[in-house]
Amino acid sequence: MLPHPLLKSHYATPEAKPEFVNRLFDAGAPHYDGITGWGFLGSGSAYRRWVQRRHGLKPGMHLLDVACGTGLMAIEGMRILGTADNITCLDPSEGMMAEARKKLPAKFVVGYADRLPFADASFDFLTMGYALRHVADLAVTLREYHRVLRSGGRVLILEVTKPTSPLGNFFFWLYFGKIFPGLTRLFTRSRAAHDMMYYYWETMDASVPPDSVLAAMRAAGFAVVKRVHVLGLFSEYVALKA
Ligand SMILES: C[S@@+](CC[C@H](N)C(=O)[O-])C[C@H]1O[C@@H](n2cnc3c(N)ncnc32)[C@H](O)[C@@H]1O
Repeated sequence: MLPHPLLKSHYATPEAKPEFVNRLFDAGAPHYDGITGWGFLGSGSAYRRWVQRRHGLKPGMHLLDVACGTGLMAIEGMRILGTADNITCLDPSEGMMAEARKKLPAKFVVGYADRLPFADASFDFLTMGYALRHVADLAVTLREYHRVLRSGGRVLILEVTKPTSPLGNFFFWLYFGKIFPGLTRLFTRSRAAHDMMYYYWETMDASVPPDSVLAAMRAAGFAVVKRVHVLGLFSEYVALKA
């Protein structure tokens, strides 16, 4: 199950998507923290910490952060756990992980969400921040998440979700489709940073609806599956491996 229909202006086949996405994030990586800092009005770190704590991350747990990028989720995870000793970060982009390595003494693994190079039942808590749209296949990815979690383990997936009302949708497009990429270009003078944020918008716009994500989580075997909707914009998908 694709997380969004193929974006034919970027890649003609599903097989070509990972290379395109990796190039995009490798090139935009040095700008990512700065852009998302002002783009979300400085709320990102506090929100990432609050959401992980609220959904049950506790000291002593083994945490896997999939699509760790520059480490923004995992750093907040480290603040809660009190150490990075039990944190594993996975991402296919060497460029994004190079930024994360500068600030986080966790274990780093190059890899894809739908082919996790970990044994069954390895982790207590699995996070994925703003990257579900980039996986090759939702169903396969969620089955992988279920497989690597221990019994009683939790998954927490964060996304920005397009509003359903026409007015909400208009402002969503205006900000994420126009203002955010435009200001990114202006502030960074980087075409790569602009393209990364424009693709951010394109994939949010084309993404499957929240109900499809919830259904895929249930089909993967998760229990107590729910979506917490914050400020009409942020989706927190949470579930338990029974
Ligand atoms: C928007 S960034 C999110 C980074 C970070 N999680 C955060 O909260 O800011 C998306 C990340 O997803 C990664 N990514 C893209 N395709 C992926 C895949 N198939 N599996 C895992 N990660 C992927 C990218 O390399 C990039 O680092």
